[in-house]
Amino acid sequence: MEKEKFGRFGALLALAGSAVGLGNIWRFPFVTGENGGAAFIIIYIFVMVLMCFPIMLSEFIIGRRSGSNAMGAFDRLMPSTGGKHFGAFICIIPILVLSYYSVIGGWILEYFFKACTFSFDGVIEDGQIEQFFTSFTSSVIPPVFCHTLFMVATLMIVIRGVKSGIEKFSKVMMPALFFIMVIIAVASCMLPGADRGISYLLHPDFSKVTEKTVTSAIGQAFFSLTLGVGTMMTYAAYIKKSDNLQAMAVRTSLADLIFALIAGVAVIPAVFSFNINPEGGPGLVFQTFPALFSKIPMGNLVAILFFFAIIIAAISSSISLLEAASLPLIEEKHYSRKRATLTMFFISWTIGVLCSLSFGPLSSLTIFGNNIFSFIDALCANALMPLAGLICVVFVGWRMKKEDVWSEFTNDGTLKQNVRIFPFLWVCIRYVAPLTILCVALIGWLN
Ligand code: PHE
Repeated sequence: MEKEKFGRFGALLALAGSAVGLGNIWRFPFVTGENGGAAFIIIYIFVMVLMCFPIMLSEFIIGRRSGSNAMGAFDRLMPSTGGKHFGAFICIIPILVLSYYSVIGGWILEYFFKACTFSFDGVIEDGQIEQFFTSFTSSVIPPVFCHTLFMVATLMIVIRGVKSGIEKFSKVMMPALFFIMVIIAVASCMLPGADRGISYLLHPDFSKVTEKTVTSAIGQAFFSLTLGVGTMMTYAAYIKKSDNLQAMAVRTSLADLIFALIAGVAVIPAVFSFNINPEGGPGLVFQTFPALFSKIPMGNLVAILFFFAIIIAAISSSISLLEAASLPLIEEKHYSRKRATLTMFFISWTIGVLCSLSFGPLSSLTIFGNNIFSFIDALCANALMPLAGLICVVFVGWRMKKEDVWSEFTNDGTLKQNVRIFPFLWVCIRYVAPLTILCVALIGWLN
């Protein structure tokens, strides 16, 4: 059966949807805050160009050339290299990431429901939101219920298929997300004292740059661009042969960067305006912001918009995870789409329940000193994703034939600009990206 393909615009929005997520709206502002603002952003852009761009293109090249899911892709391209094992390894990652990503998605849903019932209306006493956050996440039924809702929403989209599920959702929701974020950013910049936040984002202070700034930029870029999870590879199999992979990668990365910057402009000026420490860490969205919503005019309305935006961003990423996890079952094991997505839904949901309970009844169960949630998060972000990224670039740079990579990247020589860029890309794929991943892994181990 002929594989469904994205339209060109649909492909871009689906790829951007996979990239834009909690990483942009929840993580980027606080990581930027912790790492010195503008100086971090400049390093982040360098990392994107030299390391992430080659990895993304490697995933695109493997995905589109093989026309296959992550498990079959390596094997289809080079049957004798044991590619099935690499593929099988990569397929585990989206299942694990989805399990804990949807727990956070569930928390956001709860905050959205709270906003809809005007719980952020009126002044909230200091500490009240922190208390709510801790008691909610450590309870049993409410967070598991929200995690389930989030996963069901993801399932309902993916079960409909590539064009009428994923592409349709992305085409409607990504532009909506953009408008909502711009409105919030403008409102944030109009708060008294917001200019200090804007100048924090614009004036780089390189004296704050340390080796940790660079490793944080790499970790953030990897996570934000959804690299090393197999989702980019899976979506690339739905990109038409006539489309330009280089342009897709540039636009996806740019869209991701723009969303991250808008989120930064939405969050940091507001944080400065209320004299909150910009280095507030992961609690920014769940604790600091709700308290802030209660203090600004029409704050509850902004809260509804804000949490709705994060839900869209998170679902556009989680659908790419469920798709990447299910496609191997559809193509390799000949499951129907319904059976494959339901199977993967059930596995991720179960692991997710354990993650959710690890803040409450299972908190004493630790693996290497971490609760289950933090262990799976660290395992994926610090080990599995970089390793999968490394496998992809090394496979394209050192295993595939250079002519095949060239012909996939230049559409058989018809894209003149890509023909010119190819030598630079080739050096990045063969040397720069793999060596950077190895160096970062080494620094991580030594610390
Ligand atoms: N890129 C997504 C984000 O920014 C996160 C993500 C990572 C999603 C890995 C899927 C897989 O939120």
